[in-house]
Amino acid sequence: MPAVLFRTDNDNPDQWREALAKRIPDIDFRVWPDVGNKEDIEFALVWKVPAGAYDGMTNLKAICSLGQGVDHIFAEPNLPEGAQILRIVDPWMAQAMAEWVLLQVLRFHRQGMEYEQFQREGRWVKLPAPETATKRVGILGMGALGAQAATTIAALGFDVAGWSRTRKEIAGVTSFAGEAEFDAFLARTDILCCLLPLTPETTDIIDAETLAKLPKGAFVVNSGRGAQLVEEDLLAALDSGHIAGASLDVFRTEPLPEGHPFWTHPKVQVWPHVSAQTNAESGADQVAENIRRIFAGETPNNVVSRERKY
Ligand code: NDP
Ligand code: OXD
Repeated sequence: MPAVLFRTDNDNPDQWREALAKRIPDIDFRVWPDVGNKEDIEFALVWKVPAGAYDGMTNLKAICSLGQGVDHIFAEPNLPEGAQILRIVDPWMAQAMAEWVLLQVLRFHRQGMEYEQFQREGRWVKLPAPETATKRVGILGMGALGAQAATTIAALGFDVAGWSRTRKEIAGVTSFAGEAEFDAFLARTDILCCLLPLTPETTDIIDAETLAKLPKGAFVVNSGRGAQLVEEDLLAALDSGHIAGASLDVFRTEPLPEGHPFWTHPKVQVWPHVSAQTNAESGADQVAENIRRIFAGETPNNVVSRERKY
């Protein structure tokens, strides 16, 4: 049987070995850097490989992300041309992400930042109660994760819109599509949540210009990728008061470096890239099925476009 290469600095190889061996008992599972004969490798299951990792893997047929995002795969300059790029699309992760985004939306909506501050000051202060139906949530990215987050939030009665490359029909969610509708989407968004994949088009998409188009007092939530947010521009907008607060799960450099201003900024909440963690048990069914398909020469599921890079 051809071999599977496993490489990550994030997940536990033993959990994946066990989960996949339950589904493919004779799997030849090789954990980086113990690759053995590189020509045996036909399937790579990876999260961030060192440069040149695939050199010599002349029979590599597929590279599958150990997550929903694939930007780490396209970051490799010597990506083998013949290999298909696959990813995990896991309902368990979509549920986790919807919970996390909802948590941020509710914290901002229910004046959590303000009440946390009042508690620190030992003050018993009541603010006017917020109105759910008029609170406008805007989600960048209406894919597997964005669509579920949007419907979860809309189900609570928020005014929810999504922005994507192509138009969507999602009950209870207003669809904005393409660059031409980006400004209108921003203008109606009180809480901006980013669930875009990182591509050349989405790099730095949340910059000073984008932030300025949000209404004054808007909030920013990012669990897409750190490089989508221009951190200095967010800091300036927070300090000017144009943006009221931010919750960030992803950063340009991870782990967030010691001394970074986000760590101590009173209007920023830092999360260590945990909004939707990869889960070996829930992800293994689809990975095993794709290994089976690749080894059998069949068409795999969850193929990523090399052209669009997501
Ligand atoms: P999908 O590929 O399913 O969805 C991507 C969405 O973004 C699509 O709706 C797509 O539009 C839209 N999009 C892409 N490029 C553009 C663009 N240039 N302009 C407008 N819209 C665009 O991705 P997922 O929902 O599965 O995941 C999204 C991202 O979330 C991942 O790539 C990853 O970066 C991040 N993530 C973060 C995690 C965390 O723990 N923080 C966990 C998992 C993922 P269209 O549908 O029209 O093509
Ligand atoms: C992912 C992630 O892309 O965890 O799955 O960021």
